[in-house]
Amino acid sequence: MAPYQKGSATEDAQSMKVERLPPVVTSLLPSNHPYLNGAWTPLHEEVNATDLEVTHGAIPADLDGVYLRNTENQVQQPLGRFHPFDGDGMIHQIEFRNGQASYRNRFVRTRGFEAEQEAAGSLWGGLADPVQLAKRPGWGAHGFLKDSSSTDVVVHAGKALSTFYQCGEGYRLDPLTLEQEGLESWVPIDGVSAHPKVDEATGELMFFNYSKHAPYMHYGVVGPDNRLKTYMPIPLPGPRLPHDMAFTTNYSILNDLPVFWDAKLLERNIHAVRLHEGIPSRFAIVPRHGGDIRWFEAAPTYVLHWLNAYEEGDEIVLDGYFQEDPTPEPNKDAPPGFEHMMAYLDESRFKPKLHRWRFNLKTGETTEGHLDDRILEFGMINARYAGRKYRYAYSTVAEVGWFLFRGFVKHDLETGQSSEFILPEGVYASEAPFCPRVGAVDEDDGYLVSFLTDENAGTSECILLDAKDIAAGPVCRIRLPHKLCSGTHAVWAPRDMLAS
Ligand SMILES: [Fe+2]
Repeated sequence: MAPYQKGSATEDAQSMKVERLPPVVTSLLPSNHPYLNGAWTPLHEEVNATDLEVTHGAIPADLDGVYLRNTENQVQQPLGRFHPFDGDGMIHQIEFRNGQASYRNRFVRTRGFEAEQEAAGSLWGGLADPVQLAKRPGWGAHGFLKDSSSTDVVVHAGKALSTFYQCGEGYRLDPLTLEQEGLESWVPIDGVSAHPKVDEATGELMFFNYSKHAPYMHYGVVGPDNRLKTYMPIPLPGPRLPHDMAFTTNYSILNDLPVFWDAKLLERNIHAVRLHEGIPSRFAIVPRHGGDIRWFEAAPTYVLHWLNAYEEGDEIVLDGYFQEDPTPEPNKDAPPGFEHMMAYLDESRFKPKLHRWRFNLKTGETTEGHLDDRILEFGMINARYAGRKYRYAYSTVAEVGWFLFRGFVKHDLETGQSSEFILPEGVYASEAPFCPRVGAVDEDDGYLVSFLTDENAGTSECILLDAKDIAAGPVCRIRLPHKLCSGTHAVWAPRDMLAS
C-alpha cells in the first residue's frame, strides 16, 4: 500500500469557474441521523464548473469520455425513518478531453421529485417506513415508495439512463450536458430495475424488472437503436428481490435468491425481508434474445452485485459477491432506532466475498467457491470484456460499520494475485469504473476514476488511479467545487458511446 500524498485540496481554488443554478426547494431539517450527516450529508447545490484545479499530477491526455456518478441526497424532511436509499437521485459528471476536465451535477427530476418540489415537503415514506405514510401512490415493486432514480446510471444509445433499484420508470439525460430528457420510452409497465447491462460490442442493453404479481419477473433487451426488441416473463414462485443481472455473449443470467419479503407479512402490506431457510439460490440462464429458460441451483445466499460472466466450453462462468450472512443481527452499537438499518448497510456484517459459480449446460450441475476470503463488493471490470473471458477485477473495500468505500482491490484472476489502494481515515471513495486509455491494447491499460469525500477537510475531489498499478496511489487529483454526498453506483462512458 502506497502512502496517500496530501495535496492542496483545502486551499482556495484560484482558477475554477463555478456557475450555480437556482436553489431547489428544501424542507430538510438538521438531525442526528447517521445517514444524513458526515459523508452522507445531502448536497442540494447544482453547478457547472470549468477550469478545475489539478492539485496533484496532470490530467492524462489519453482519457476521453465522462464519468457519471449517482448519489442519494434527501431534499425534503422525511415523513418517517429515512433510509439512505430513499434519497433523491443526483447525477455528478466529470468530462475528460484533451487533458482538460469539467464538472457538473444535477438532480434527476423525477415525477416524485417535482411533486415534492411543488408541495415543498415529502409525499412518500421510505424503505424503512410503514406504507401508510405515503400520501400518494408510489412506484415500482414495493409500490409505496417514490421513484427517486437514485441507484444506478448507465450510458446506452448515446444517452444516460438513471435507474431505481425498486424498478422505477427510468430517466434519460444527456450524458454531456445532464439535460433532462424525461422518461425512457421503452420501459415496460413493471418498470426497469437498477443494473441494466450494456454490451459495448453489440450496443444492446439487457434489463430485468420484478413485481408482486405473477410472473414476478421479466427480462428484456433494447437494441442499439433504443427500441425494445425482446421482453419475456421469467416466472418465479412468488415476489422476489433480485438486484442485479449478468450476461455472456449468448445468454443472460437472472437470479431467484432465498432472501425476499416474508409472504405472510406481505399480505398485510408489511415489507419485511428475511432469509428463507431450506431454499437454494436459483439461476435462470436465458438465451439473450429469448427462448427456453434453464434453471440451476446453488448454495443459498444473497448477491447484490455480479462482476462478470462468460462462456467457457460447456460452462457458464459467473463471478459475483456471495454474502455469507445476508440477514445480519442488528448492530447493538448503532444509535437507538438504527440498529437494524446500520447492520444491513454494513458489509462487515453481511460479509460479501468474491465468488465464482460454474453452470454446466451439458450436465445441469453447478460448482462454486470463493475466489478470495476478504470482504469485498461493488466490483468493476474493463466494460469491453463484459460477457467475455476477462482477467482483471477491481473491487471496493468498505468502511467497517458503514456503507462507505475506503479503498480498492485489484485481482488478477489468472494468477490469483491482488494489490490494493486504501484511503486515509475519514476519506471515502465512490464506485470506480475502469476507463480504458485511448488506444489501449491490454485489458488493464487505463485508469480507475473515483470521487472522494474528505470528512477531515470537508471537501471532495476526483482521483485517477493507474489501473496497472493501483497501489501507487493517484496519478492525478482534481479539486471539485463542493462536497459530495455518498451514494451507490457510477459508470464510465468513452467518447464513442456519447451522442454527439
Ligand atoms: Fe446496486
